[in-house]
Amino acid sequence: MNTKKLFDLSGRVAIITGGSIGLGRQMAEGLAEMGANLVLCARKKERCEQAAEELKQLGVKTLALACDVKDLDQIRDVVQQAASEFGRIDVLINNAGTAWGAPVEEMRLEHWNKVIETNLTGTFLFSQAVGRFMVRQRRGKIINMASVAGMRGAPAEFQAIGYHASKGGVIAFTKDLACKWGIHNIQVNAIAPGWFPTRMSEVMIERNRDAFLKKIPLGRFGSDHDLKGAAVFLASDASNFVTGHVLVVDGGQTA
Ligand SMILES: NC(=O)c1ccc[n+]([C@@H]2O[C@H](COP(=O)([O-])OP(=O)(O)OC[C@H]3O[C@@H](n4cnc5c(N)ncnc54)[C@H](OP(=O)(O)O)[C@@H]3O)[C@@H](O)[C@H]2O)c1
Repeated sequence: MNTKKLFDLSGRVAIITGGSIGLGRQMAEGLAEMGANLVLCARKKERCEQAAEELKQLGVKTLALACDVKDLDQIRDVVQQAASEFGRIDVLINNAGTAWGAPVEEMRLEHWNKVIETNLTGTFLFSQAVGRFMVRQRRGKIINMASVAGMRGAPAEFQAIGYHASKGGVIAFTKDLACKWGIHNIQVNAIAPGWFPTRMSEVMIERNRDAFLKKIPLGRFGSDHDLKGAAVFLASDASNFVTGHVLVVDGGQTA
């Protein structure tokens, strides 16, 4: 197949959790620029609607829905609405995520649970709900947002043990699901970003800018387009023989 065709997403349908702002919004834009129709969901529906309205200008169809990935009924509702609107679901990006900062000795159970339920259990529940649909389709692409935080420990200035554990879990989940669902022609991969300035990371970056930059060989943070290529690759036919992979996009931080 022609290489441009391999990366083409025209007519494909992608659900992006947390697609309203930040990295989810960036990946949604990347997929839409390659022709994909989008389902954007997050808790704050107005922000999804705003992103959907803007991305529609790229000539694709968009659907904005409210969804808390900690709630199974709301997840099922999104999958049902996406399926009835478009009749197909080609790509799921499990991007919705949260973090909680506190020293390990003081981390409260409710904060640990919130992070694990959003980042890890939410990824499981959404993959299960969309995966059932993809199994019937005999094809699909699942992309999980991990982090370099899930690959190793961090220095004392980054105190978020629940976040690290959740992202390590996302990596193990990705590899195991890839082994289980290869038989259904579903590719399951993860993206592990380094530091990208977003609402989630802004305080940490603000406080530790120089220390972080010293550890990034490319000498800068991720930009508003640095994730697009990774997302499009893993969402498209260009990655049909790639599964269980963790694609690190970190400016060399973990090299
Ligand atoms: N920024 C970085 O440096 C970095 C690095 C590595 C990995 N990541 C990962 O990339 C992903 C996106 O992060 P970001 O930096 O773009 O953060 P962000 O700007 O804070 O965006 C987070 C998104 O997730 C949604 N969300 C949060 N909790 C949710 C829930 N319970 N149910 C549904 N949606 C929820 C938010 O919308 P609502 O608040 O409206 O729900 C928002 O759309 C996360 O998984 C994060 O861990 C980020």
